[in-house]
Amino acid sequence: MFPISHFNITKTPFYYYDKTLLSNTLAKLIRLAGERNYHVHYAVKANANPEILKLIAASGIGVDCVSGGEIKAALEAGFPAKKIVFAGVGKADWEIEYALEKKIFCFNVESAEELSVIEELAKKKENIASIALRINPNIDAHTHEYITTGLSENKFGIPIEMLDSIFSQIQRSPHVQLVGFHFHIGSQILNLETFHVLCERINQLQDDLSKRNIQVKHINVGGGLGVDYENPDKNPIPDFGRYFDIFQHNLNLRGGQQLHFELGRSIVCQCGSLITRVLYVKKGIEKQFVIVDAGMTDLIRPALYQAHHCIENITSDMEKCRYDVVGPICESSDCFGKDVMLNETKRGDLIAIRSAGAYGEAMASQYNCRTLPGYLIE
Ligand code: LLP
Repeated sequence: MFPISHFNITKTPFYYYDKTLLSNTLAKLIRLAGERNYHVHYAVKANANPEILKLIAASGIGVDCVSGGEIKAALEAGFPAKKIVFAGVGKADWEIEYALEKKIFCFNVESAEELSVIEELAKKKENIASIALRINPNIDAHTHEYITTGLSENKFGIPIEMLDSIFSQIQRSPHVQLVGFHFHIGSQILNLETFHVLCERINQLQDDLSKRNIQVKHINVGGGLGVDYENPDKNPIPDFGRYFDIFQHNLNLRGGQQLHFELGRSIVCQCGSLITRVLYVKKGIEKQFVIVDAGMTDLIRPALYQAHHCIENITSDMEKCRYDVVGPICESSDCFGKDVMLNETKRGDLIAIRSAGAYGEAMASQYNCRTLPGYLIE
């Protein structure tokens, strides 16, 4: 399945991206979204590799950015400014100015304080900023606590109780125009019922607001659709159809209202694997350790979120043995998997850490003065 002859001449560790799988995923996503007239924005934070960005930009979908750097990367990759949404709780002044200059589609505004700054900077530029209010719907996404964002104890979004004062602030300003409401409740959500709850919360809000004649053109429900980390080969493409159906059947859009999504992981996760070489097979008293040349600097998810990734020895066809697969970094959390069953492994073998296309390369660091991982896209 992996083009191993090419791997032998590539310096490890590196990310391998399967271009065909990415294209097939995009094609399916675009068809299913198109049938329902839904607008998808790719969440750049999941993977900002320039070649991946170019491929996604060429597919015609929009983009969700969370920094000035991501806006720049998205524009360079060919996404049109008119399809950029800009989110984040801490937008710096230069980032807001840059986004205004580029005339992006919409700012997802997270607080009254941020709104004031956008208003002031738009006024200075004699501009009108299109904004969507990110509303915190207080929903438990039942995912890892670090990636749950829609609870009122999280730093994200505006509590529904505070909306009134924000509406008056918007009405007073000729430099901001309210075009939408934005919601994002968390990431790696596999229980689709959670999105059903989100739909009900949005319906309730829209009902309340329509009594006061407040209606917006765009509803953005964020991202969060999870992927199958346990069975990447069985489920290489997430079930976008079932996901979209939840919204189609449960969300009451008003006449002319457009529905937007910000999907990251579900688009890029399964097309990427981290390929690493075995440095040593170390015998311990109770365990055998496979020490590889990739570490938590290359893929931090297991160390940070206790995330599970399938691990395979792609150059051995020997009987399976039990190993802990660890990296070279001086931290005990630098472990990719405990008690992993791998084909019998020796120094020099290649190991694939699967489902690493999202939040893998994008979160790599140079801790321990290491070099960033390379990549191969085919
Ligand atoms: N929109 C907003 C406002 C977000 O905060 C995020 C992700 C997304 C969209 C995209 O969500 P996705 O479709 O990828 O679930 N590093 C963590 C995930 C952090 C997610 C942050 N926000 C991980 O490796 O699991």
